Amino acid sequence: MPAYRAPFIKSSEITSRSLYMKRRQFMTGAIAAGLSGSLASSANAALNAKQSSYIVNDKITPKEDATTYNNYYEFGTSKSDPAAYSGDFKPQPWKIRIDGMVKKPMEFDLQDLMARMPLEERIYRFRCVEAWSMVVPWTGFMLSELLKQVEPLGSAKFVAFQTVLRPEEMPGVGGFAPVLDWPYREGLRLDEAMHPLTIMAVGIYGDVLPNQNGAPIRLVVPWKYGFKSIKSIERITLVDSQPVTAWNVSAPGEYGFYSNVNPERDHPRWSQAQERVLGAGGGFFGGTGKRDTEKFNGYGDEVASLYAGMDLQVNY
Ligand code: MTE
Repeated sequence: MPAYRAPFIKSSEITSRSLYMKRRQFMTGAIAAGLSGSLASSANAALNAKQSSYIVNDKITPKEDATTYNNYYEFGTSKSDPAAYSGDFKPQPWKIRIDGMVKKPMEFDLQDLMARMPLEERIYRFRCVEAWSMVVPWTGFMLSELLKQVEPLGSAKFVAFQTVLRPEEMPGVGGFAPVLDWPYREGLRLDEAMHPLTIMAVGIYGDVLPNQNGAPIRLVVPWKYGFKSIKSIERITLVDSQPVTAWNVSAPGEYGFYSNVNPERDHPRWSQAQERVLGAGGGFFGGTGKRDTEKFNGYGDEVASLYAGMDLQVNY
């Protein structure tokens, strides 16, 4: 990934958390009072999700930042490319195949799946390996709920994920010197995949995912660097050995398989001790817009036990 570049964010685009929360309370009240139509659909009613208790107590990143400052190399390597060049990408209809070491390999139609899965909204921290971070309200369901349906075999130890590859709709994948070995691939250990914090997201800010954020369905693993959260997934395969992953193939010394957020282990080219919070100001107008990075991105109470006895300097 290229070195970090500071985003330019206008102060008019920054919504305070209290304002956001007030709006949410109003919307919840409106729904409870039985109001429908455009009012309710601008809250999370569009996705019919319930509020969950997985809510981090941080200021939510302005939607404008989370949807215009993206990494999605299939559409280009600049932060503004995915929003600018993903307009031709068709997220519907969509099927996801789950196969490999499972009792019941299945192909799911996404619309059917969304109608059946219990959708909930979670507000998670999201920390990119490039040392910027955001706080995002995701709508989705637990990956464990999906994997249970295909019944993983006892021999399955890892889960491999693959992004759809459509050169005709993705202007970033062609050329003589591809940026990555496409399709984009990622992987988790099975216990990481089954962890309740690991979700498949179909929405952000109460609405369906825009193309640049990984429509129509992506992974979100909040205690790992953002590149593990693979977008536009079309295939999931359960396997018995550690799967090949796109960034690890590209630069194994820089991007490990685990990639747990860890301020004690610097990237070979930059420090991971701090992060720049998108939308938090900085520069001339006071404050640095930075915060100290927390181990496991602050989710250590929930996930540290998954790595008991492992050397996280070696397994980065
Ligand atoms: N998934 C695919 N298919 N292609 C990508 O380039 N970039 C990753 C991850 N998932 C990427 C991807 C990286 S580096 C990050 S930080 C996050 O997506 C960014 O997610 P966001 O754009 O929704 O913030």
